[in-house]
Amino acid sequence: MKATATAHRDFTISTIDNRIYGAFLEHLGRAIYSGIYEPNHPTANADGMREDVIDLVRELDVPVVRYPGGNFVSAYNWEDGIGPRQDRPVRLDLAWHTSESNEVGIHEFADWCQSVGTEMMLAVNLGSRGLDAARNFVEYVNHPGGSYWSDLRRANGREEPWNVRLWCLGNEMDGPWQIGHKNAAEYGRLAAETAKAIRAFDPGLELVVCGSSHSGMPTYPDWEATVLEHTYDVVDYISLHMYFANHEKNTGNYLALTSKLETYIDTVAGVIQFVKAKRRSKKDVYISFDEWNVWYHSSQQDRAILQGGDGWPHAPGLLEDIYNFEDVLQVGLILNAFIRKADVVKIACIAQLVNVIAPIMTERGGPAWRQTIYYPYYFASRFGRGTALDLAVDCPTYDSDQFSNVKYADVAAVHTEDGGVSVFAVNRHPTEAIELDVDMLGFDHMSLLDHQVLTHSDINAVNSKDRPDEVAPRAGSGARMGGGRLTVSLPPYSYQMIRIGG
Ligand code: AHR
Repeated sequence: MKATATAHRDFTISTIDNRIYGAFLEHLGRAIYSGIYEPNHPTANADGMREDVIDLVRELDVPVVRYPGGNFVSAYNWEDGIGPRQDRPVRLDLAWHTSESNEVGIHEFADWCQSVGTEMMLAVNLGSRGLDAARNFVEYVNHPGGSYWSDLRRANGREEPWNVRLWCLGNEMDGPWQIGHKNAAEYGRLAAETAKAIRAFDPGLELVVCGSSHSGMPTYPDWEATVLEHTYDVVDYISLHMYFANHEKNTGNYLALTSKLETYIDTVAGVIQFVKAKRRSKKDVYISFDEWNVWYHSSQQDRAILQGGDGWPHAPGLLEDIYNFEDVLQVGLILNAFIRKADVVKIACIAQLVNVIAPIMTERGGPAWRQTIYYPYYFASRFGRGTALDLAVDCPTYDSDQFSNVKYADVAAVHTEDGGVSVFAVNRHPTEAIELDVDMLGFDHMSLLDHQVLTHSDINAVNSKDRPDEVAPRAGSGARMGGGRLTVSLPPYSYQMIRIGG
């Protein structure tokens, strides 16, 4: 099968905001406790943080990490996580039916972010609490000193403010499962007033208002329109969340979900334009896709804990999806979609980063390893920074049960900051290789730098503690760059990254 594409150095979509390669860490399951923090672990540093995990996160070069939730944040008292550890209260976490020890709070998380070289993206609780707790949190985190909350931070050992730029106004407030769930008008008003208060500290902060929890919500997309009508002038981003599942074990249908994702982004971008026009506004609002990933492998096994059958355990294994090779393709497709939508999607967070639906897994007291989905995330984050190119791709298509004209070859390309080009390609065909031929206009003088391939004879293959490299990239062969054309053969069911430069 053949596919052709045309790349032109001046035919661009947008500069990519590096924050589309962000991640998310929630106080959920073992994400924090025995994920990033495990004071008795052999690799623990003086702060009790696992250095083996720090190394893997650094390798991913994660630009921003959203924290502390998620559903958790909607009943979280941020003050529980400050001050001497022995004085911090144990709370019942209503979102995940577990106990929260509060051993990790804002100070510990901020120090960890510094160790891994990432920025914080903090969420305030607009579920059980509201404007007052939010403004106190912002004052604690960002005000230099000379006020109650900023001086308390200094007394707690942090002299300089952290100066966090990015703040989420609650989480998934449209969801009836959320503690303090609200309708769109109630939430829109609260978010607008909270934004106003937070901006009084610093008008330059970047604020994210909650969109729908997913595009199947009954209130979608009216929710977006109503919430933005209340908040358009005081926010910068609206959040989107989407999780991907293959319950029916139909790979063709599963890999076609990119169409749903792209339609979702286009629709919310349209709602933003609608509200902008209605308000006769000059200002732009963008998309923060701050939760995305594959999530379904663990759903069955989590049921007992979530229904309270185990009481209130501390840091139990929850949402520990073990990803297979098929999920590599899905995650590659999602990241390609974000690159193609770089003009409207400015932030995106893989949900989550460690243990909980995550690219990194750990064992208590044991090793940390890379799940299969680590790799497409790694390649996009490391080599997908620069300007998204508007490729014209032509190739055969298929129809899934839900979507028509799904291209077998899914391709995205980035004119990178070092002047080269990275091409990310997924072959959705189960049995046929695709001969991809890209006309590289304006890049003729370049040569092939790297070609990495992920493929496997078994789409259900997984990585584990004992077989951490079962699914791993290998150097590809047969890619050529010459005469202004890049040609490469994409094996059936494969993900690849090809870089040219020079
Ligand atoms: O990431 C897991 C959960 O998914 C988050 O807590 C919530 O925001 C979403 O429903």
